[in-house]
Amino acid sequence: MEIREVAVVGLGTMGAGIAEVFARAGIGVVALEADPDALKRGVGILDASLSRAVSRGRLTAHEQAEIRSRVRPAGAFSEAAAVDLAIEVVPERREIKRQVFAELDRVCSPAAILATNTSSLSVTEIAAATAHPGRVIGMHFFNPAPVMRLVEIVSTVLTAEGVPAAVSGLARRLGKSPVHVSDRAGFVANALLLPYLNHAVRLLEACYASREDIDLAATAGIGLPMGPLALLDLIGLDTALSILDVLHGEFGTPRYAAAPLLRRLAAAGRTGRKSGRGMYDYPAAGTDKASSNGNVAASAAPDTVTLIGSGDDAEADLATALATAGINVTRNAAHPSDLIVVAATARRGVLAAALAAGRPDQAVGLHMAGDGFAEVVQTSLSSEQAITSGTALAARLGRTAVSAPDRPGFLVGALLYPHLADAVRMVQDSYASAADIDTAMTLGCGYPQGPFQLLDSAGAADVLAALESMHAAYGDPSFAPPPLLTEHAATGIAFRAADS
Ligand code: CAA
Repeated sequence: MEIREVAVVGLGTMGAGIAEVFARAGIGVVALEADPDALKRGVGILDASLSRAVSRGRLTAHEQAEIRSRVRPAGAFSEAAAVDLAIEVVPERREIKRQVFAELDRVCSPAAILATNTSSLSVTEIAAATAHPGRVIGMHFFNPAPVMRLVEIVSTVLTAEGVPAAVSGLARRLGKSPVHVSDRAGFVANALLLPYLNHAVRLLEACYASREDIDLAATAGIGLPMGPLALLDLIGLDTALSILDVLHGEFGTPRYAAAPLLRRLAAAGRTGRKSGRGMYDYPAAGTDKASSNGNVAASAAPDTVTLIGSGDDAEADLATALATAGINVTRNAAHPSDLIVVAATARRGVLAAALAAGRPDQAVGLHMAGDGFAEVVQTSLSSEQAITSGTALAARLGRTAVSAPDRPGFLVGALLYPHLADAVRMVQDSYASAADIDTAMTLGCGYPQGPFQLLDSAGAADVLAALESMHAAYGDPSFAPPPLLTEHAATGIAFRAADS
């Protein structure tokens, strides 16, 4: 069926973005929002996005005007009577969705497709409550809708033949990559993303690391486009909370239980970018985010350090890096004032070496995790001065650094490995294939590499060892390594190779 005109119901951040995507593809859009103020705000989001594209030279003023002319703001459902497809993008509450679908049932032709952009609710339940469940389908976009390429297409046992193909064709016309997923809470991308974001909030709540360092560990340490806390602000803390509650209701495991801090911030109205305050503050232009080591100058780094290691590659690499940066390296920990730097590895913490050196207050670990990045690992005995010197040292080595506690996984591993374990569990439980999960996370969340590509390059054995240490240290069942990971670590078979 040909889709010439669509209705987008709900003009919040996602609705405005989805309306823009349709209009850019040459499709007429009825932009429906019952509340006149919300309608005005939604149109403002769309206009700002188009103006930004013009100022970046991505659109001409003429194209902007053409796109804008395809969007018809409307306040009444009756305006959607002639559309070929209506997509609801209203808040994640069943009763609101039910009302919207009742209205769409009333005004739209029975031939029109009714889509929901729900991020977690059951599409089957939504469909079953309508007059023509066969035409109801999930069409799940990712934020920012004009940028992210993934659209999850969710059919149900009630979906009529032809509807999934029509909606996939439409998604491709929009320049998106449709992926068919089953109707389970969170589908694929959110089922994996949300527990990771929630875990980041738990780390913040437990003062495991600072807000900025948590985000920097994800961007500079893992290579993700945004840190988890900044991403929560983009998604909306209230939206994230609703998704987690649905996931927790469906699966029950503690990993989905929303962090109390997330619930409190959402309750306080600190919902993220849309309200101007969330994990960060958003003054009119830009954010107040600061990188953690930006204010520790490389010039404050010591000229001589005492290096301690265990004769492995980590120690050799650190010795080379220190020498290249012109720093004198001694091996004599008895020298009274030098900073002691322990060459930390994911498998070996810092405290035992710091104690053995006899001056644990003057010792920090340096974990050179990836190119241009380091974790400055502090034990409970490291002095402020040692931490500052260690951070300056990392800067002198040309590394972006975060402060991490001397706990299993330090900071990057503490964030990443449970996320990878979740991905493995999804494959283990036949939720989705490793290739589909990688596709979902690269196209939907901008990961440069999918979780299984990350896992394969880190090595299943190392990830397993880190998870075992985390599980032993905290007893949290979320850190228990899934049997499938143990099997891959034992056989040495890569996930992606095994999958293809
Ligand atoms: N609306 C429209 N366009 C936007 C935009 C927005 N809100 N934000 C950024 N863009 C565009 C920019 O205009 C720019 O376009 P051009 O290259 O054509 O000029 C492009 O995106 C890159 O933007 P920036 O250079 O400003 O910033 P960046 O390179 O840091 O990228 C980002 C920004 C695309 C948001 C990137 O950080 C990213 O991919 N982040 C991850 C986002 C993510 O994970 N989304 C999924 C969340 S989960 C979800 O949405 C599902 C759910 O149900 C909750």
